[in-house]
Parts: sequence; structure tokens; C-alpha cells
Amino acid sequence: MTLAVAPGSPATRILGLGHYRPGNVITNHDLIARGVDTDDEWVKSRVGIAERRWADPDETVVDMAEQAASKALAASGVETSEIDLVLVATCTMPTPVPAAAPNLANRLGILAPGAYDVNSGCSGFVYALNAASAAVLTGQARNVLVVAAERFSGWLDMSDRSTCIILGDAAGAAVVGPSDTAGLGPVVWGSDGEQFDTVAIDQESHFFRQEGQAVYRWATGKMAPIALEACRRAGVALEDIAAFVPHQANLRIIDALARRIGMPNAIVARDIVTSGNTSAATIPLALSRMVERGEILSGAPVLLLGFGSGLAYAAQVVLSP
Ligand SMILES: CC(C)(COP(=O)(O)OP(=O)(O)OC[C@H]1O[C@@H](n2cnc3c(N)ncnc32)[C@H](O)[C@@H]1OP(=O)(O)O)[C@@H](O)C(=O)NCCC(=O)NCCS
Repeated sequence: MTLAVAPGSPATRILGLGHYRPGNVITNHDLIARGVDTDDEWVKSRVGIAERRWADPDETVVDMAEQAASKALAASGVETSEIDLVLVATCTMPTPVPAAAPNLANRLGILAPGAYDVNSGCSGFVYALNAASAAVLTGQARNVLVVAAERFSGWLDMSDRSTCIILGDAAGAAVVGPSDTAGLGPVVWGSDGEQFDTVAIDQESHFFRQEGQAVYRWATGKMAPIALEACRRAGVALEDIAAFVPHQANLRIIDALARRIGMPNAIVARDIVTSGNTSAATIPLALSRMVERGEILSGAPVLLLGFGSGLAYAAQVVLSP
């Protein structure tokens, strides 16, 4: 016996992007005023962050996701009635259940879609993008709303100056839908589970913890070949990459990777300077802001590179909407 196969799409692409940053700007000086033993020059030179955004006390992951998703839907021209699946990449929901996705879909007026969260830490958006693409390719969904939203300000140990200076809150979103030609290249993903606990929420304290230097060495040492492989599999020459949007963990990591990959004509996302590290949200946030500023033309190849907790990673070339 054989089973029926849903009619899928020959290819997929990103149809629209959106983002949201909360209103509270927290500069390095603001952290010092709150009692953090640090200095502006250290944070700028070692991490690259001048300021980050933190949500209001009553502003939730789903609140931020809703803002970004509404903009992505409007930019895509896709009606809520045409969305069959909602995915939220997040690792900062206040409790493991309920997931963010069904609540988000309900708020947006998307009726009874498939809905689930993806937790792969900072690489979560690229993982969710590929789950979305697979669903459209295999006919399981006509269009998919993919949102990454994080609220790390609720998980910070303000007495740990090596972590509390890094993280921020934000959301970014994309609508993935059918296309005759490929706008999403093959993903190159993987993980190094031997280092599974180098980036974590501590079980006892519930504070964010990381072995910063181990992650720094891993990212700068291992991620460039992954990104190069994503370009090779997409059939895109390095000269043709218009923008490089890596996870925004540390400006020195971003610049080292850009040098190692070697894309002579690419503009490099340095959103970390004014947004901090917003985990899964960094990539769609940075990409959406670059598109909004007119820095990336429609149809231009963009290299995405997510990496972080797990340690998991995912790289992919996409065409800008
Ligand atoms: C987090 C990170 C910036 C810390 O930098 P580092 O150089 O590894 O810092 P260390 O914790 O080893 O500390 C080095 C020195 O700086 C000091 N320091 C750490 N944070 C500081 C701060 N905010 N302000 C001033 N000094 C600070 C330490 O006390 C230490 O001083 P000492 O040598 O006198 O003891 C860096 O490891 C990093 O970016 N790692 C990448 C990991 C990452 O971003 N992951 C996010 C999830 S993907």
C-alpha cells in the first residue's frame, strides 16, 4: 500500500520580514548606575555593545513576537487565513509549557494553525526557517510564520559582569511561502553535544551562565567552514554574497568570521552594537533592520549563520525578500 502525498511547492522563499525592539534603551553607563562593576570601554572593545534593549516588566516574549510578526505579515502581503503553521524560536519563555506559538497565532487571528516552539538557543531562527521551508515544500503548509523572540532580561545575574552586559530583548519574524525558484538554499547544520552545557540557564539559580572563552574559541574556530559549505551547497560565489548576517554574540567573533569566510562585497550585520545579544532573535532582527534601511536589495543573496547553546549551529544562504 502507498499513502497519498500532499502536493508541495517546487521551492520556497522569504516573503516578508519584521522586527521589534522594546523601548527601554540600556547603555553601558546605565548598567554601571545599576551597580554592575564594569566600564563602557571594556564592553565596547571586548564585546562591541554600546547599548541593548530590555522589555518592560510586564512585556512578554509573546508581546514582542506579536509586534514583529504583524510587521512581517504586512510586508509579505500574505493574509492570516493563508498561514497554516506558526513557529516560534525561543529559549526564554517563563515556563516550559505552554508554548508561545499557539498563543501568538490566536492573538494574530490565525485560525487553528499548526503551532509549536523551537528551542535551539541562538541558532533557533535558522532551524525554524528550515522547518518552515520543509513544511511548504512537502505541502504541509501553504505559508508559515516564523518568529524568534527572546526576553533574556528576566534571566540575568546582575552580579555576573561577564554575562549581564551581553544580553538583550527583541523579536524578529519572517513569512516563508511558495516560490517557483529557490529563495532558501540548503541548510548546513550540526551540533557539538560534548559542549552541551557551556551555554545554559542554571538549574539552581535560573540565571544565564556560559563558559565565554570556550564558546568564543569554538565560534571563531569552527563556524567559518560551516558558512563556506552553505555557500558552496547554494551554488553562490563568495563575491556574490551581498550581506553576512551571523548570530550577534560578540563583535570580535562577527569580524573574525567575516574575515575568515572572505566575502569581498558583503556588508556585515553589526546590530549587536545597539541591540546586544538577543539569542534566537539576532538574525531576523539584524536582517529585517538592514532591509528596512535599504542596505540589501530585494533578491540579493544573504548568508545567515546561527550558533550558540547546544552547541548547535545552522548556516544557510537566503535571498532577501
Ligand atoms: C563573554 C566574553 C565577552 C567575556 O570575555 P572574556 O575575555 O572571555 O572575559 P573573562 O570572563 O575571561 O574575563 C577576563 C577579564 O575581564 C574581566 N571582565 C569580565 N567581564 C567584564 C566586564 N563586563 N567589565 C569589565 N571587566 C570584565 C574579568 O573579571 C577578567 O578580569 P581578570 O583577568 O582581572 O580576572 C567572551 O568570552 C565572549 O564574548 N564569548 C563568546 C560567548 C558568547 O557571547 N556567547 C553567547 C551565546 S552564543
